[in-house]
Amino acid sequence: MARDLTVLIMAAGHGTRMRSSLPKVLHPVCGRPMIEWVIAAAREAGADRVVCITRPGEGVAEHLDGSVEIAEQTEGEGTGAAVLAAREALAASQTAVVLSGDHPLVSPELIKSLIDAHVRAEAAATLLTTEQLDPAGYGRVVRGADGSVERIVETKHTDGVSPEELAIREINIGTYAFGAADLLDALDAVGEERGERYLTGVIPIIREKGKNLAAHVTADTRSAMGVNTRADLLEIERLARLDLIERHATAGVAFTAPGTVAIDAGVEIGADTTIGSGVTLTGATRVGGGCTIGPQATIADSTIEEGATVLHAVLTEAHVGPNASVGPFAYLRPGAKLAEGSKVGTFVEVKNSNIGPGSKVPHLSYVGDADVGEGSNLGASTITANYDGKRKHRTAIGDGVKTGIHTSLVAPLTVGDGAYTGAGSVIRKDVPDGSLAYSDAKQRNIEGYNPKPAEDRPE
Ligand code: UD1
Ligand code: CA
Repeated sequence: MARDLTVLIMAAGHGTRMRSSLPKVLHPVCGRPMIEWVIAAAREAGADRVVCITRPGEGVAEHLDGSVEIAEQTEGEGTGAAVLAAREALAASQTAVVLSGDHPLVSPELIKSLIDAHVRAEAAATLLTTEQLDPAGYGRVVRGADGSVERIVETKHTDGVSPEELAIREINIGTYAFGAADLLDALDAVGEERGERYLTGVIPIIREKGKNLAAHVTADTRSAMGVNTRADLLEIERLARLDLIERHATAGVAFTAPGTVAIDAGVEIGADTTIGSGVTLTGATRVGGGCTIGPQATIADSTIEEGATVLHAVLTEAHVGPNASVGPFAYLRPGAKLAEGSKVGTFVEVKNSNIGPGSKVPHLSYVGDADVGEGSNLGASTITANYDGKRKHRTAIGDGVKTGIHTSLVAPLTVGDGAYTGAGSVIRKDVPDGSLAYSDAKQRNIEGYNPKPAEDRPE
């Protein structure tokens, strides 16, 4: 195995064909920017150093946030100029693997097998090729009569490319292993084509020097798929999503309608959880085992513990405890924390609040900035009035509290353990433990208001 392995990831250039304000390599695949997939693959393949080549001002280096080395491409255009931007890292390395930041599904296994092939062949350069993709637009691998690689012909522009070359199916995937010194020597000798210095220009130069050139042919088309347009990205996203779902299924997760589900890379799901139709799980979401999620749930950056149910709901930065129940039609906003066995039911919104063990908020409520104790029940349409127009205030609701329907709890407020509130009450003062609080609004009956009550009956 080669020691001192540096992986270069070419990631400069905005990628104008994406028609986006976002640089190409930052476009997400299953919620994770393309370049991060490539970085993860490089690491898994055993890279000692990972260097990303970016262009100043494009925002890619800033995104990477110190997790990898950056080499800025300030001079020249093209993949050759990109690699030269990492001259210092190359000069200090033995083996260099070059990856493209726009091949998000490149697999660590394939990178490893490329390095193995490179070492076995004692080659100065080993390129990865495939015959399994539509070759349009890719560099074609031109081989000599003895089958050895002679050069790469670019076909992004086909003018000047011969019909024989256009008929070649074997393409350059754009993933290479090089002896670092051989690469630097050859690159310095590569001239410009169409105003660019092509990395593929090193192939004939290395060949002329009489050094070993190897090609490693693969059938792993996912690794070979590059993204130049959003249409390319659609297919990559589809494949990555399928892979993720298959991996979760293998680990014991049930999917009733997998084609309707979107799960970000990095989301965790426990065994024996069922994911229904129309479920989206994003960001740092973790779902425990034995849960029922969906049909229809949009869950971002939330934790759901074992045995919980979430049906027709939207959750953002929420925490759902074991065996708790959410929905249908519930909205849990940041800081909503539901303890074990609690329930947030139909048309209920909870924000920055703790719902204690076994407590229930079954219908039509808004609970904001509140702490609800254990075993309490908020009657239908109980509302916390947490905002006085200037500031937010908290509502403390004790254990075993029962609020009547249409209770307004005007914060700051404390409702003691075992307290009750009457239907339709506006509670503005603290309620002591064990008492019943209600606010009077006396009922008046206005007689004779409708002189012909019998005629109002439906036929
Ligand atoms: C390249 C290969 C082609 C191969 C294809 C596979 C060359 C000349 N051609 O073509 O043989 O079939 O990949 O997908 O290498 N980049 C920089 N700086 C630059 C230019 C590009 O960092 O100045 C980066 C891009 O961000 C991208 C990668 O290099 O991640 C590849 O560049 P791109 O322009 O997409 O090359 P292709 O035309 O696809
Ligand atoms: Ca490309």
